[in-house]
Amino acid sequence: MSDVAEQPTPAATSATTQPADPAFEPRITAFVCNWCTYTGADLAGTSRLHMASNVRIIRLPCTGRIDHVFIVKAFERGADGVIVSGCHPADCHYTAGNYHARRRFGVFRELLSFMGVDPARLTFSWVSASEGAKWADVVNETVARVRSLGPFDAYHGLAGAAMPADDPFAAYDRPAAYEKSGANEKSAAYEKPTEDAS
Ligand code: FES
Repeated sequence: MSDVAEQPTPAATSATTQPADPAFEPRITAFVCNWCTYTGADLAGTSRLHMASNVRIIRLPCTGRIDHVFIVKAFERGADGVIVSGCHPADCHYTAGNYHARRRFGVFRELLSFMGVDPARLTFSWVSASEGAKWADVVNETVARVRSLGPFDAYHGLAGAAMPADDPFAAYDRPAAYEKSGANEKSAAYEKPTEDAS
């Protein structure tokens, strides 16, 4: 993985690895800082670099803002892999946010493993605003690795088992149930209350 993984991504463990489906397209959530990686990702797009389209970006002010719960929630809501990326060491616009993030995620990988989530599903990297090509590499390598791991659905099963069948929030916590329940349409209607408000 060349210089992409400043925090080396461990090899897949067998506990959560499933047989690879050639038709499987991983869903990757990327938490990136506004100042470096987001701009680098934008540069990759405007430079028309070839990269997988499996990544959905969530922009945050700084990697220091990324909470562990964000990552767990991403897996719970259907992500098969997660990328965390921000400014290089010494380049953080808030001085030390990326150092906090690096320290936190070293521990978090251990925690993921403890929870039964393969840490190979989590990528941590530094990508600056001028490194569009590096962002494309991070994306392509992460997608290839997660594709080889197969879909992640262990957490969905755990979440479903912990909830009662009539849980009113089930649709928001279980993506499959969400689709089936039609809650998507209901929430779309909810977003436009002004039509009947008067
Ligand atoms: Fe980019 Fe802190 S501003 S990591």
